Order: sequence, then C-alpha cells, then structure tokens
Amino acid sequence: MLTGRLVGLRPMQADDLDFFADLANAPQVRSHVVGWDWPVARDAQRDWFASASRDPRNRRLTVVDRASGKPVGMTGLWEIDWHNQSALTAVKLMPGATPKGAGTDSIMLTMAWSFYEVGLRRLHSTVLDFNAASLGAYVRRCGWQIEGRDREAVFRRGTWHDLIRVAILRPEFDAGPDAAEYVERVCGATPAPPMPPSQDHPARHLDPARA
Ligand SMILES: CC(C)(COP(=O)(O)OP(=O)(O)OC[C@H]1O[C@@H](n2cnc3c(N)ncnc32)[C@H](O)[C@@H]1OP(=O)(O)O)[C@@H](O)C(=O)NCCC(=O)NCCS
Repeated sequence: MLTGRLVGLRPMQADDLDFFADLANAPQVRSHVVGWDWPVARDAQRDWFASASRDPRNRRLTVVDRASGKPVGMTGLWEIDWHNQSALTAVKLMPGATPKGAGTDSIMLTMAWSFYEVGLRRLHSTVLDFNAASLGAYVRRCGWQIEGRDREAVFRRGTWHDLIRVAILRPEFDAGPDAAEYVERVCGATPAPPMPPSQDHPARHLDPARA
C-alpha cells in the first residue's frame, strides 16, 4: 500500500465493489466527473471487476482512509502508453468521507508512484470547467499545467461545458515543494552512500599484509 498523509492507495479488490457502485452513483460525483455512464447496479459489478482486473492498459487503485483502512475513493492510471511513457489519471472521493486535503494527497501519491515506480514521464487528465475542487487540487496544489480547452464538449445539467485539458511532466512534479516527501513515501528512504574506507579502521591493524 502507498501511504500518504491522509489516505492510502492500494489495488482495488472484490470487496470494494459495493463501495465503487455507491461512489459511481453519488450525485455529486456523477455531476463532476468527465465520463458519463448509466447508473451502476451493485450486482453488475462482478463482471466489470473481472474484466477490469485483466486489462493491462488500466490500473485502478482504491483510495482508503489512512487511519481506518476503509475505502473512500478511487484513482489509478488509464490508457497507459508504454511507448510514450504517459497515462491518463483521475480521482474521485466519496463526498463527505474525506478531510480537506485528501484529493491533493491522493494526487501526490499517484504522481510519485507513476514517475518513480511505474516509470512514466507524463500524466494527463481532463476537468469540467465548473469543477473548482478538481482544478484546485490538480492545478493549484499539485502543479499541473492547463494545456488546452475543448469548447462546449460536455453535456451536464442540461447545458454544455468546456473541458479543460491538464497535464504534468515529471520535472514539474520534481520542482514541487513536497515531491521528495512523496517519493520517499512511495519508494522508501534513499539508502545512505557507502562509507569511504577509513585509514584508521581497526580491522586494518589485524591484516598482517598491511602492517
Ligand atoms: C476533485 C476532488 C478529488 C478534490 O479533492 P478534495 O479533497 O476536495 O481536494 P483538496 O481538499 O485537496 O483541495 C484542493 C484545493 O481545492 C480547493 N477546493 C476544494 N473543494 C473546493 C470547492 N468545492 N470549491 C473551490 N475550491 C475547492 C481546496 O480549498 C484546496 O485549495 P487550497 O489548499 O488552496 O485551499 C474531490 O472533490 C472529488 O472527488 N470530487 C468529486 C469527483 C471529481 O470531481 N473528480 C475529479 C474529476 S476530474
């Protein structure tokens, strides 16, 4: 498990499925995520889980509360492109289930994992123009760049909205103030460099050839 300040990320598992159905059906999530789908039935999730688990281009992670371990959201990598070392990412948290900062924590963990463990160099996503929380987390807090805007591309609440294209490159992540902390959270502490051989090491005096 990847452990952040407030949340953890771990592979999704079968007993998360009821939670995922509730998350997908939550009105505040449905209205703010970019992809639209029919409401999800809990008992239809088994087939989806079986095919999603075998899909090599997508890797979903369950966001869990760090203290209790309970599922509070979903994130991951989609459309993984090994040749170009890039992937789409997204995050959705259950409304009311997480403290302020949980979105930022999830995104920072995902970036450190993607850039320092998986081996990617670019992450991208899209955000609806009215999604202030998502823009706040990705762009303001985590250093993502706005790369473009698809005008009136998405139908939501009876009207058309612009889709904002956002992305981050590994050097931009590295330049952030919290990058080193999150790399250590994902990869562990950097091993100390080997000790230089000391002229006065006691073992030297035990070696007759060097006496
Ligand atoms: C988007 C989402 C992941 C953000 O997570 P979060 O835990 O709310 O974000 P954070 O608490 O880390 O906040 C990040 C920044 O955005 C700001 N923010 C959060 N919610 C906000 C809102 N509703 N309006 C304006 N700003 C908001 C925070 O104040 C913070 O900025 P600050 O540190 O300068 O104050 C979460 O709200 C969510 O899952 N929403 C529903 C699904 C969704 O929209 N997913 C994203 C699809 S692109």
